[in-house]
Amino acid sequence: MTTRKLGRGVAIVGAGMSKFGAFPDKTTRDLFVQAFQEMHASVDKGLAPEDIEAIYIGNYSSDLFEGQGHTGPIMADWVGLLPRPATRIEDACASSGVALRQGIIAIASGLYDVVLVGGIEKMTDLPTERVTDTLATAGDALYEIPAGFTFPGFYAAMATAYMARYGATPETFMRVGLKNHDNGALNDKAQFGASIRQVMDSKIARAKAKGRPVPAWADEMAFLHDDAANPVIAWPMRLFDCSPISDGAAALLLVSEDLARSFSDNPLYVIGSGQASDAALHDRADLTSLRAARLAGQQAYEMAGVAPQDIKVAEVHDCFTIAEIMATEDLRFFQPGQGCKAAEEGLTARTGPRPINTSGGLKSKGHPVGASGAGQVIEIWKQLRGQAGERQVTDADIGLTHNVGGTGQTCVVHIFERR
Ligand code: COA
Repeated sequence: MTTRKLGRGVAIVGAGMSKFGAFPDKTTRDLFVQAFQEMHASVDKGLAPEDIEAIYIGNYSSDLFEGQGHTGPIMADWVGLLPRPATRIEDACASSGVALRQGIIAIASGLYDVVLVGGIEKMTDLPTERVTDTLATAGDALYEIPAGFTFPGFYAAMATAYMARYGATPETFMRVGLKNHDNGALNDKAQFGASIRQVMDSKIARAKAKGRPVPAWADEMAFLHDDAANPVIAWPMRLFDCSPISDGAAALLLVSEDLARSFSDNPLYVIGSGQASDAALHDRADLTSLRAARLAGQQAYEMAGVAPQDIKVAEVHDCFTIAEIMATEDLRFFQPGQGCKAAEEGLTARTGPRPINTSGGLKSKGHPVGASGAGQVIEIWKQLRGQAGERQVTDADIGLTHNVGGTGQTCVVHIFERR
C-alpha cells in the first residue's frame, strides 16, 4: 500500500464535549451547543465563530433514535453558523471519527482553513429493545440480522472465537471493564463515573436502606461473577462487558497548520490518518481480529512515520471488552494472542506501560455512537496538553484514536502530536 501524506498540515486547536449519559430533558441540539461552547472556550487565543468555513457532523441514526434526519444544517443553525456548508457523515459507530477525517481532508486539500467537526447521538429516548434494533442496522440486514444477531451477539461471537484460539477467559474480559471503570471514575464527563468497587458499595448501601438482603461479594471479581449483579447479555459478554446506551456530543476545531499558533499556544498536530473497510462479520475468515483496524492503523503509522511503541496514550473502541483486547493487537501494541495477557497483567492500566482508554473508554465514559469518535479525541487533547488531571499519564507527546463502525466494516485511526 502506498504511503499517503496530507497535502498540507492540519492541527486541532479547540475541543469540547457535553457530559455523556442519559438526559431525558435535552435534545441532540442542546448537547451539541454544550460541546460547541466548551470547544469555543478551549481555544487559547480565542475564536471568532464566523471564521469557521465548514462543518462535518458525525451522526449514526438520529432518524431512528429521534425521528430527525438531516442533522448537519440543524447543528450549524443551533451554533449560529448558517449559511456555512454542513455535511452529515454516517459510518455507524465510527461516524465522527470519519467526520474528523473528512474535515482533515478538506483542510489538507486547501479548500478550507478552519473547520468544525462534531459528533452527536441521543439514544436514550427509545426503550432498550428498539435501541438494539436500531444499532443492528449497522450489521448486515440481509444475512445477519434475520439470523438473530444483535450487537452484543456479534461481539460475543468474536469473544468466543478469541477464547478458543488464545485461551482467554471471561475473567480476562472482566479485567478490561474493571480498568475502564477505574479510569471513568476520574472523569467528570463519564456516564458511569464510578469504579466497580463504588458500584458495589452503592448497591450494598441501597439494599441496606431498603431493608433487603445485603449482598456479600468478597471483592469486585465476585460481584462480576454474580449473575444477578452482572447478568449475561450474550455469553461471555455480561452487563459490565458492554458499553451503555448513551446521549452525548463532542466538537473539535481544525485549522491549517500555518494558522495553528494564531489560535493556540498548544495545538495538537494531526500526523497520521488511516481508514479501511471490510465485509460484514459473517463473511470473514477470522473473527479474532479486525482487518479494517489493522489496515487503518498501518496507514496512520506510515503517514505519521511512527511505530506502535511511540504511542504514549490511546483511546480505542471498547464497545465491548473483547473489542479493546482485539484493538490492542490490531494496532500492534501487542502480538496476536497477547492482548488478553496484557489486560490480565495490568499493562494497559493508566499507570501501566501502555495506557489504554484513560477516559474510561466507551465502556464507562459512554457510547453515544455518532459522538464517540470525536469524544475519543477530547481525551487525547487533554492528555497531550497536560490537562487530564488525575488521569494524566506521564510524557504524553503522541496519542492515537481508534474508532470502529459496526462489527469492523469501518475503522478509522488518527495519530496526534504535541510539538
Ligand atoms: N454497564 C454497566 N451497567 C449498566 C450498563 C452497562 N453497559 N447498562 C445499564 N447498566 C446499569 C444501569 O445503570 C442500571 O443500574 P441500576 O439498576 O443500578 O440503576 C441497570 O444496569 C439497568 O439498566 P437498564 O438501562 O435497564 O439496562 P438494560 O438492560 O436496558 O441495557 C444493555 C443493558 C447491556 C443491554 C445495554 O446497555 C446495551 O444494549 N448495551 C450495548 C450497546 C451497544 O450495542 N452499542 C453499540 C456497540 S457497537
